[in-house]
This record gives sequence, structure tokens and C-alpha cells, in this order.
Amino acid sequence: MTTADTKATLSFSDGSPSVEFPIYKGSAGSEVIDIRKLYGATGKFTYDPGFMSTAACNSSITYIDGDKGELLYRGYPIEQLAVNCDFLETCYLLLNGELPTAAEKKKFEATVTQHTMVHEQMQFFFRGFRRDAHPMAVLVGTVGALSSFYHDSLDITDPRHREAIRLIAKLPTLVAMTYKYNVGQPFVYPRNELSYSANFMHMMFSTPCEEYKINDVLVRALDRILTLHADHEQNASTSTVRLAGSSGANPFACIAAGIACLWGPAHGGANEAALNMLKKVGTVDKIPEFIAKVKDKNSGIKLMGFGHRVYKNFDPRAKLMRETCYEVLNELGLHDDPLFKLAMTLERVALEDEYFVSRKLYPNVDFYSGIVQSALGIPPSLFTGIFAMARTVGWIAQWSEMISDPEQKIGRPRQLFVGSPARDVPAIDKRG
Ligand code: ACO
Repeated sequence: MTTADTKATLSFSDGSPSVEFPIYKGSAGSEVIDIRKLYGATGKFTYDPGFMSTAACNSSITYIDGDKGELLYRGYPIEQLAVNCDFLETCYLLLNGELPTAAEKKKFEATVTQHTMVHEQMQFFFRGFRRDAHPMAVLVGTVGALSSFYHDSLDITDPRHREAIRLIAKLPTLVAMTYKYNVGQPFVYPRNELSYSANFMHMMFSTPCEEYKINDVLVRALDRILTLHADHEQNASTSTVRLAGSSGANPFACIAAGIACLWGPAHGGANEAALNMLKKVGTVDKIPEFIAKVKDKNSGIKLMGFGHRVYKNFDPRAKLMRETCYEVLNELGLHDDPLFKLAMTLERVALEDEYFVSRKLYPNVDFYSGIVQSALGIPPSLFTGIFAMARTVGWIAQWSEMISDPEQKIGRPRQLFVGSPARDVPAIDKRG
């Protein structure tokens, strides 16, 4: 980051002296006003709930231009990565800053593969959960529990210990175990000769009685879902991971915190919510009635899978996901899938509606990812778990960047206090 030529001046209407702040520019995107000295100089804080105008860090990992609908991982457009690279190459890129050479790729794959098994003791954690527990509840618990097994990777001041291999390798195993536990089937161990995504499908759908037959189209679809969700700069769950990590907490606990945040329907829970919404709408003729409810502010109903805090033109991932949706449904002979047809009609109707146009609401990646995952055989309650599996690499890359940033401080937002001023505690007979 470099200092811009201009400076920002803050002046006050009550005659208090004005204060000058430096402005920094990055390699792309909006400049930032450095207000770190604001409180010292004025005794005032800035007020920005939801971080609408606040950059909390500098980062060189992911860049989004919401107006252009552009998403770059380490400078490479998501459209090119999704077509030319697999998920593990993308992981390598996010973690190391450059795409791997063939030799580096081979070594990285081998290292990830070596860590796919989880400690055998982990299965006892699973057995403590209800069989019908939501997968995200199980993942928050079991990922946090990993910190009790892998003490040797917990010295966060040692860069070698900050490597993310264990988490990237073990998330698919834990997500698949979550599914198996829920449906009452035996856990299936990873098979290291399979690719990352094929291995996940194997752990999900093989049983001791029958091996799952790997289908390349479906494996590629899963791999693309993972690539599209791998990182998304300073979103809610990533900021949660950074905030948790800013206290020096271990990475397993930080990722568990990220998973907890991702669970919410305004974030990672949207794909599950979008599919449930489509099922609830049911048929194309119910769309006008549904859209009317969405537009009625008192209904509390949103068009799930639509809208984004950053993308105000289109979500580039949604386009790729729609393509994958076609591929998967064709492969499975489901081209006439009623849910897909309903989704396409709903998308068209919304995109032509003044309410959505004027608010710049476009389908986000999750509008279609639920249909794809459903076609792959993944139950809706596990969609957000798949998202967590994909995003783990982004969380780790961002966490690691934060730990090695010399400007990093423990995250500690301030507040505008609106409660009672100081008062004395009355005796109990004087209260009320
Ligand atoms: N359906 C109907 N109206 C919407 C929707 C929606 N999906 N999204 C936003 N709006 C409306 C808001 O009510 C608001 O209207 P108003 O100006 O009349 O008050 C206006 O559009 C602006 O919306 P905000 O809530 O200010 O936008 P914000 O940036 O805070 O929210 C969010 C973004 C949370 C993603 C929102 O669009 C939403 O809830 N979408 C549905 C959930 C979803 O799909 N989330 C997935 C995000 S992508 C991801 O996590 C991978």
C-alpha cells in the first residue's frame, strides 16, 4: 500500500480544530482513509455498523469489483481458474500467491492426501451428537475439537506451523462423517489414490457393501463448487476468523468460529434456504404470488440466493454455477427437473421486475448451487458444510496473512453507548 497524493481533512461545525488523515491506495479498488489516529486527536470514534465503509485490513489474496462483477484470486479471474485449474491448484494459489508448477502440484496433492484421515478417537465425538443434529452444529464442534488432537501444529508464531494442510485435508473427511452419522451408515475411510473431490464423493456415497462409482462430470461439478467458494475477501465468516485469530487463538478454533458464522442464512446458509424456498414455491404459476410477498416489507420473506453486499451488477460465480447446473442435470438425465425450471423462471421474472432492478439485486452463486448439490445426492442440510469445506482454504490463507502482518492488532471495535448513565444500586425495597 502506498500513500496517495491527496489527504482527507475532517472539520467540525463547532469550531474544533480540523484533523488531517493520510489516504492510502492499493493495487486496485477503493482508496482508504487511515483514521487510526482519529480517537487520539478528537476523542471521537467512527460509527459504521456492518462495516459499510470500513476496511479492517490490507490483503493481497482476493479482489472483488462488485460493480464490474469481477472476482480475482491472487490476480487471476475466477472464470479462468474455474475452467483451467482444479480445486487443489486453487488452494495452492490462495495459500502461496502463485499457481503451482506440475512438480509443486504433485507434491501438494501428495501432502494433502497424507493428512486425509482423522484421529480414530474423533468418531467418539460424533457419537456424542444426536443423529439428527444439524451438520453445521456437528462441524463447529468437531473442527474445534481438532485442536485437542494436533498440538504440534499450534505454535502460530512459527510459519511452518501455520500451514493449512491438515485442515484442508480433513474437512472433507469430517463433512462426509457428519453425513454418514446422520443417515446411520458406517464411516467410510478416505482413499488416497482418488482426487480431492472424487475422494469426498467416495466417503459420502460408498458403503462397506458397495463402492461408489466415480462419475467425472459429477466430480468436476463438485470441484467447481469448491473452487467458486474458496475465498471471497473480507466477508462475515472470514472477518470472524480474522477477529478470532487476532487474539492468538489456534487455527482450528478460529475455523470453527468461521463455520459458526457461515451457518447463518444471510451468508453460507443461503444455498439451503434457496432450495427450500424453491420447494416451497412449488410450481411456476405460484411465482407471481411469491414475488409479491418478497416485495412486501412486512412479510419478512426474501428471495434467497438473490442480492449481495458487494456484487451490484452480477455475481460471476452465479454464471459459472448455472453452467455447471446444466452439465450435471444433462449427465443425470434430469434436464426437465422441475426445480431447475422453476429456478430459471423465477430468476427471469425477478430480473425483469422493477423492485429487483432498482435495488441491483442479482442471483448470487447460491441460487444455483443448491440445485447442483441436490443432483449430486447431497442433502440440503449439508450444503453449508460443503461451503465450509471449500472456504477453509480461504479462511486459512486470510488467517495466515493476518498473523504475519506487522500491523496486525487484536480486533477491538468500539461502540456508541446509549444505555443508562452511572447510577447507584438501590436497596431491594426501593426498586421497581
Ligand atoms: N430479496 C428481497 N429483497 C432484498 C433481497 C432479497 N434477497 N436482498 C436485498 N433486498 C432489498 C432489501 O430489503 C433492501 O431494500 P430497501 O432498500 O427497500 O430497504 C435493499 O434490497 C438493499 O438490501 P440490503 O439488505 O441493504 O443489502 P445488504 O448488502 O445489506 O444485504 C444480503 C446483502 C444479506 C446478501 C441480502 O441481499 C440477502 O439477504 N440476500 C438473501 C440471502 C442470500 O442469498 N445470501 C447469500 C449471500 S452470497 C454468499 O454468502 C455466498
